[in-house]
Amino acid sequence: MYQKKPGAFMADWWDADGRRHRKQFATSAAAKEHEHRETALAHAERASREMKLAARTSSAKRPRATAENGTIEPPKGKLGIMIPGMGAVATTFVAGVEAIRKGLAKPIGSLTQMGTIRLGKRTEGRSPKVKEFVPLAGLDDLVFTGWDIFEDNMYEAATNAGVLDYRLLEQLKPFLSSIKPRAAVFDHNYVKKIDGPNVKKGKTKMALAEQVRDDIRDFKKTSGATRLVTMWCGSTESYIEPTAAHQSVKSFEKALRENDEMIAPSMIYAYASLMEGVPFANGAPNLTVDLPVMLELSRKNEAPICGKDFKTGQTLIKSVLAPAFKARLLGLSGWYSTNILGNRDGEVLDDPGSFKTKEESKLGLLEHILQPGLYPELYGNMYHKVRINYYPPRGDNKEGWDNIDIFGWLGYPMQIKVDFLCRDSILAAPIVLDLVLFLDLAKRSSELRGLGVQEWLSFYFKSPMTAPGLYPEHDLFIQSMKLKNTLRHLKGEELITHLGLEYYD
Ligand SMILES: NC(=O)c1ccc[n+]([C@@H]2O[C@H](COP(=O)([O-])OP(=O)(O)OC[C@H]3O[C@@H](n4cnc5c(N)ncnc54)[C@H](O)[C@@H]3O)[C@@H](O)[C@H]2O)c1
Repeated sequence: MYQKKPGAFMADWWDADGRRHRKQFATSAAAKEHEHRETALAHAERASREMKLAARTSSAKRPRATAENGTIEPPKGKLGIMIPGMGAVATTFVAGVEAIRKGLAKPIGSLTQMGTIRLGKRTEGRSPKVKEFVPLAGLDDLVFTGWDIFEDNMYEAATNAGVLDYRLLEQLKPFLSSIKPRAAVFDHNYVKKIDGPNVKKGKTKMALAEQVRDDIRDFKKTSGATRLVTMWCGSTESYIEPTAAHQSVKSFEKALRENDEMIAPSMIYAYASLMEGVPFANGAPNLTVDLPVMLELSRKNEAPICGKDFKTGQTLIKSVLAPAFKARLLGLSGWYSTNILGNRDGEVLDDPGSFKTKEESKLGLLEHILQPGLYPELYGNMYHKVRINYYPPRGDNKEGWDNIDIFGWLGYPMQIKVDFLCRDSILAAPIVLDLVLFLDLAKRSSELRGLGVQEWLSFYFKSPMTAPGLYPEHDLFIQSMKLKNTLRHLKGEELITHLGLEYYD
């Protein structure tokens, strides 16, 4: 639902076939009610179709992918990775890829590099590596560029970030120094704690978008890449909600020409990428591609999108523990999460506007996993609080504390304490690698490239994007099953339901 103008409220929903509808109402309550009713009807229709599909596919092996039901083009040539925001995460990722290519380290944490996928029955013993099962770009074929408001090259930025060991960085210095940031699209109002000199100038936001599109074409030409992917690793922008400007390509382009203040820099990179047909992933909690305009562009230009906010430390653990409580019907009265971190990300999040964006992203998941509406006695009164405190001495080595108050049989209370001394960018880098390789796969897949949101990549995000009106799936193990079943489906393999009664026939 959004307000078109004073006194005009638009119910905005997608039907079961993915078609968008809008209807005007005089009050926001009437528009909301209509939107909820239509969305629920679409859900019910989709769920019934999914059940019919599952019944068909679980009993019989699907035919191998053919020209009719989906083809995947081979990953020929280089894959260009473009990163707005060359900070701690981006440099840890790029340096890591180069270290792995040189045989100096292993891709630990990466599903595409180290993961396997079971195919067929447990008795068949078929578990190839993911990268051997689906055609992914090889690490040797990756080339990189980025944008940042600071002029540091990747070696200097990695040194400043202080994540990786000096001795490792020295061995990668010539390669990392060769990646210099392009001038950024930046607006201090959206990231209040930092400012830098390497910024594009333009009369309108549309002119800035054109400059980013030029950068994209230039990188493609000079790097010789055959395919591209954009991965937002920039700072968390201030919290905003969608407005009428974000509802369609037409209204967004008008707003770009009129310098609408509700268009954040990350949206300009996203618009430019999608206009060039380039897939876009969002590692931060900003809206960026989680907007009707971007979905429209993504589907039209067959440029897959996904986001938001890498699921790395505290939220990763939350999305493992909360499903366990629900599975065992243990109640939850409170969950208090606090963090201290001292990197630039921590400094940016010290600003209330940026923190609000992060807070919204971190808070959503418990409600979705625990479903208090379905289990009011267990989760109807839970108190959930998230805090992030900037504490410079820790640098990138974050400490996330959780105090969890649960209750069991007859209501007896218990407590769990988690103290995760993690390394933010070490956890985020393999996610970046998997996301760019999977988005490139999606772009080469005739079945996935026109879908818009790649919900099967929810596994990697705190605040996963879904088709409009669908609630996101947060449980890590459901997300993992969804991802692997999507790969099986693409290759015409049987989906795994874990029913397993046939072993006892
Ligand atoms: N590391 C994690 O575990 C993790 C988890 C979830 C989300 N994130 C998000 O990932 C993003 C990157 O994290 P980080 O630790 O690398 O932060 P960082 O501060 O080290 O790097 C962000 C970089 O983005 C640049 N930047 C800001 N606005 C820009 C713009 N408009 N265009 C180009 N560059 C811009 C900054 O100058 C900075 O160099 C943050 O938004 C963070 O919240 C990180």
